Amino acid sequence: MLSLDLTKLRGFVPEDYLTSRSEKLAGAASMLANHNGPGGDFTGWVTLPRDYDKEEFARIQAAAKRIQQQSQVLVVIGIGGSYLGARAVIELLCSPNYNLKKKDTPDIYFAGNGLSTDALLELISLIGDRDFSVNVISKSGTTTEPAVAFRIFKQMLEEKYGKEGARERIYATTDKARGALKGLADQEGYEEFVVPDEVGGRYSVLTAVGLLPIAVAGIDIEALMSGAAQAMEALSVPGLDNPAWKYAAARHALYQGGKKVELLACYEPPFRFFAEWWKQLYGESEGKEGKGLFPASVEFTADLHSMGQYIQQGERLMFETVVKFAPRGEFLIPNDPDNVDGLNFLSGKSLAFVAEQAMRGTILAHVDGGVPNILVELPAIAPDTVGYLIYFFEYVCGLSGYLLEVNPFDQPGVEAYKKNMFALLGKPGYEAQRAELEKRL
Ligand code: PA5
Repeated sequence: MLSLDLTKLRGFVPEDYLTSRSEKLAGAASMLANHNGPGGDFTGWVTLPRDYDKEEFARIQAAAKRIQQQSQVLVVIGIGGSYLGARAVIELLCSPNYNLKKKDTPDIYFAGNGLSTDALLELISLIGDRDFSVNVISKSGTTTEPAVAFRIFKQMLEEKYGKEGARERIYATTDKARGALKGLADQEGYEEFVVPDEVGGRYSVLTAVGLLPIAVAGIDIEALMSGAAQAMEALSVPGLDNPAWKYAAARHALYQGGKKVELLACYEPPFRFFAEWWKQLYGESEGKEGKGLFPASVEFTADLHSMGQYIQQGERLMFETVVKFAPRGEFLIPNDPDNVDGLNFLSGKSLAFVAEQAMRGTILAHVDGGVPNILVELPAIAPDTVGYLIYFFEYVCGLSGYLLEVNPFDQPGVEAYKKNMFALLGKPGYEAQRAELEKRL
């Protein structure tokens, strides 16, 4: 399903970059398989494509059908790992223009992923007087942004449909036992879905966190899981032929050789949000203890006309990982007898052929400019391809964290802003910190 070209790393990494890491890779793979490395309690995602809760999966499919029937709009409330995966998959498979398309599934809007008043007001006016349902997603059940958004949309639903009607339109995805959202969902009698204890937020797209909104968009979630299961089977085989081992070793060698930024590039515009998901996955997993590649992303060829200059000649601190999908269709460039634009040398050629040459030319130019390249190639964008790619990136991320000797499954740094925000908002218990911060502002 996935092929990896590492030939454009020659001269940038030592010849033995893979073999010299074989022992560490074997150790990392074993820690992932046995759940006994740092953060091992949060490695349930490793076997999720095989061991997922089948009964809950059927409930997700049934709930998705119900939402499709009851509403023209689904508001998905969540942030970080409780948001990015669903949006990434929906945009990649159904288009960033999903809401604009003619379809028999609801429009899907995302809320609670920020604190912008303008964005909230815009969303409320976009919903207008249409029927809507809400999927509120928070593993901890206490994150401020989604909690505030949920309070607002819950009230809107209750005003529109009454308490009983609102209950039928609210779907809560949260911890099985803890947190304010769990308490509220139990008390109000919402349909509940579980974020498994052993799966952290950014690894949770293949749980109810991602699957319910994805299914509402009409995407075949069985095919998505089956693609992930294929990846799980292929990547669990230890050895230096394993593409995940190769990619993790290459990233680590490049990082140790001074390349501090990994630029994820794709030639498909719907990939943009998938790259956002990828950035969180890698940024939160590796960026700690003063270490970690900085994950960045670009959309080609558009960004060749904006970021291309920097990539070619700016600070030599990055390498590129290009994700290439086979095209889903074909479009031939027409002939023009007048040839005023001088483009007849392309007449009859497919747009995909032109894109392919653009990609090949760009890779060589960037390599010549000191930007090593990794190429990941996949079949056409489809649920199983995307499931495969999700698992591939998750698995490489786990291996990479262990090569870097960090815990890839915690995120202690995220707490710092939250504590300051709570103190400044006057949350009870943060009084001393508030006085201290006010002095500094
Ligand atoms: O990856 C993570 O753990 C985070 O990005 C969380 O998903 C994010 O902070 C949201 O947390 P919660 O789902 O608890 O509201």
